[in-house]
Amino acid sequence: MAKLSTAPKQGVARYINAWTGLAFMTVTLGSIMYWYQNFKMERNRRISVKTVGKSRLGGSWTLVDQNGNVKTSLDYQGQYQLLYFGFTFCPEICPTELKKLSKIVNNLDKEVDPKLITPIFISLDPWRDSVEQIGTYVKQFNKRFTGLTGTPGQCEEIAKKFRVYSTTNRNANSDEEDYIVDHSIWIYLMDKEGKFLDVFGVDKDAEDITKVIKKHLILRQDIKLSIWAELKSFMKNEF
Ligand code: NI
Repeated sequence: MAKLSTAPKQGVARYINAWTGLAFMTVTLGSIMYWYQNFKMERNRRISVKTVGKSRLGGSWTLVDQNGNVKTSLDYQGQYQLLYFGFTFCPEICPTELKKLSKIVNNLDKEVDPKLITPIFISLDPWRDSVEQIGTYVKQFNKRFTGLTGTPGQCEEIAKKFRVYSTTNRNANSDEEDYIVDHSIWIYLMDKEGKFLDVFGVDKDAEDITKVIKKHLILRQDIKLSIWAELKSFMKNEF
């Protein structure tokens, strides 16, 4: 008898519990969606704030690649470009930075179509960095590298556009071949239209830089995250 009288109550209780559960789930999911939307907006804001003010770096240029082909800034449209300025006789800094750039490229190649990322070494020492010299040099680091050189005027022009500082200690009156080019050390990230996106100094290692570049690619939909991956980065408060 006791069983019979409690049976309807149990049914009602179950019914109420189901609605409470559903309401609770709706609120929870709603909150997550709300946070998630805010997170995406905040992420986009943080990335765009960082980029403002540096956007005038770059511009059009003409140089010659390691195969002797004339290249202009227009040839790299549709690709993100990673630019590094240096000279092939650099005893220490350029090799270190180019090894770093090579790592970055290898990291990114695992995530996106290699055709989307073009790493480019640009000579600040056109007097010694011939087409042949630059070809042999960049190959040592990564077969994905493009090497660019040109006339002293062309190299000076592009360096100016990227506000790269460089000077030679060469005495113009001697035929001294063993000189050092002092230069600023930056890796520039340009977007698919050749516009400036970001710049990385010696204080950042390959992993740091890869992470930031990936963020730019995510923001521009060239890396598509699953909703779970996005939520995970939201929970870890990345970006
Ligand atoms: Ni150097």
